[in-house]
Amino acid sequence: MYRTNTCGELTISNVGQEVTLCGWLQRSRDLGGMTFIDLRDRYGITQLAFNMETNPALCEQARRLGREYVIQVEGIVIERSSKNNKIPTGEIEIEVRSLTVLNEAKTPPFTIEDNSDGGDDLRMKYRYLDIRRNPVRRNLELRHRMAMLVRNYLNSQQFLEIETPMLIKSTPEGARDFVVPSRMNPGEFYALPQSPQQYKQLLMVAGMDRYFQIVRCFRDEDLRADRQPEFTQIDCEMSFVEQEDVLNMFEGMTKHLFKEVKGLQFDHFPRMTWHEAMRRYGSDKPDIRFGMEFVELNDVVKGKGFGLFDGAELVVGICVKGCAEYTRKQLDALTDFVKRPQVGAGSMVYVKYNADGSFKSSVDKFYTQDDQRAIADRFQAQPGDLMLILCGPAMKTRGQLCALRLEMGGQLGLRNPDVYAPLWVIDFPLLEWDDETQRFYAMHHPFTAPKPEDEALMDQPERWGDIRANAYDIVINGVEVGGGSVRIHDRTLQNKMFHTLGFSDEQAAAQFGFLMDAFTYGAPPHAGLAFGFDRLCSLFGGVDTIRDFIAFPKNNSGRDVMSGSPSPISKEQLEELQIDVKLK
Ligand code: AMO
Repeated sequence: MYRTNTCGELTISNVGQEVTLCGWLQRSRDLGGMTFIDLRDRYGITQLAFNMETNPALCEQARRLGREYVIQVEGIVIERSSKNNKIPTGEIEIEVRSLTVLNEAKTPPFTIEDNSDGGDDLRMKYRYLDIRRNPVRRNLELRHRMAMLVRNYLNSQQFLEIETPMLIKSTPEGARDFVVPSRMNPGEFYALPQSPQQYKQLLMVAGMDRYFQIVRCFRDEDLRADRQPEFTQIDCEMSFVEQEDVLNMFEGMTKHLFKEVKGLQFDHFPRMTWHEAMRRYGSDKPDIRFGMEFVELNDVVKGKGFGLFDGAELVVGICVKGCAEYTRKQLDALTDFVKRPQVGAGSMVYVKYNADGSFKSSVDKFYTQDDQRAIADRFQAQPGDLMLILCGPAMKTRGQLCALRLEMGGQLGLRNPDVYAPLWVIDFPLLEWDDETQRFYAMHHPFTAPKPEDEALMDQPERWGDIRANAYDIVINGVEVGGGSVRIHDRTLQNKMFHTLGFSDEQAAAQFGFLMDAFTYGAPPHAGLAFGFDRLCSLFGGVDTIRDFIAFPKNNSGRDVMSGSPSPISKEQLEELQIDVKLK
């Protein structure tokens, strides 16, 4: 038997017991007469004691061990003279009787400590060493715990976990597919699923009623902190339900997670329509941990001779409480922030409501004190507040002000990761116009149902932009954690949708024929959603980047720097696949 106990479980109640432990050497301290070693495994750290006087040979052996050696020790649990109340095993140590080196280890390229000296790239290259560190290990433990809670919860609600294929047919909508060549069918390719969307709908036609899957999805898109090319969804679908049933079910699941993992209780999650979210926060995923809501100013500021405002479709701002004392330098930094290419604003106007009741703005030339008071009134500002205003095309300007609002929220410490503010954003537009290709795209996906009251608008192309969908997102702290919709289960409506999206009958049949066929054999009304599981974990872990919650993630260029993928393949492999590419 390699071990009788783990390194995290022995306490004062075990004193006197003979034990065998295994683990990695975290650190050793040589105090002359005594040598101490911290032995680490997944469960914790136990101190090993070697006495130079009573067992010099063993003590010498212990002193020769390096960091991260894998060792096994036998000994007696004794009470420590100087206790460490920071760890559960801190009251005891092991008086070691014998020691076996199970494996030597090279000195790791960075320290295996909570605050490692290794940079991001190095830690990714040696991810298996990084995972030995407490913070990463804890993240993976949290992920496991959340997966178990989700499985148990959905199981208790009659959901079946059913696996769907990973090698599927490529579909043109959404992000780019990762494709896999088929050796047995030269010149033909599978795609890796961007999500199991069509399969879960087929499972509803198949009568499975309630499906879920914690499933890997693949999207070849530009990467960011909250996006990985392969990521995991909690993918769900239900039959004979309306939007309300889906929202209630998954609000219940989210509350269950909050309660079990964070000890937090919530009332109903607030709901906001997509239009309202855009108007009040300039985003379809508003961070509602803090106010600073948008205030529209067109009627207050136009006609005073300030050309920039007069010519703008929208003049809109936020009121930042208690920041009227911002210096020139601070305001310049904010102007630079909004002018960054990522934000893209042309300029920023400020109005300070000074503590003495007077006003100072960057547009004093055009706006009298009375004019500025009218602006402040619209903001419901108080003396001491700072108003920041942007202008331009409506949707673009809202997006820019959203970035500024989040920046200010961050600067003022209003985005506390320990505070959680979930909400549902509902009534998304069904279609989204793309200037580049001059056509409408499905905002969610082509199987999303329009709101029944807006269905008639599908016959009026000039109104397509106004059609609302029975589509919803769950948003927590400004992160889109999940999204879904009521599906079209009627073949005629689905065909109409494909036409709206510019598919000919032949194209629709070639891409989605199997789903359309299935719908002729009795498709039940159905709806569903998918959570981004990595995002959910990182939120619960209070961290922005989902990479920290994935055991072996890709870097920002989509590379696994540890294994060195992607990589070229051999000429023989290419020939076998009948793929003709120029080798580098
Ligand atoms: P959607 O495309 O909105 O919906 O994806 C659902 C959720 O998955 C997460 N997500 C990602 N997480 C990490 N990296 C990525 N690259 C990434 N892309 C998406 C987000 C998102 O909210 N089939 C539909 C769901 C449905 O209609 O039922 C779908 O995939 O948190």
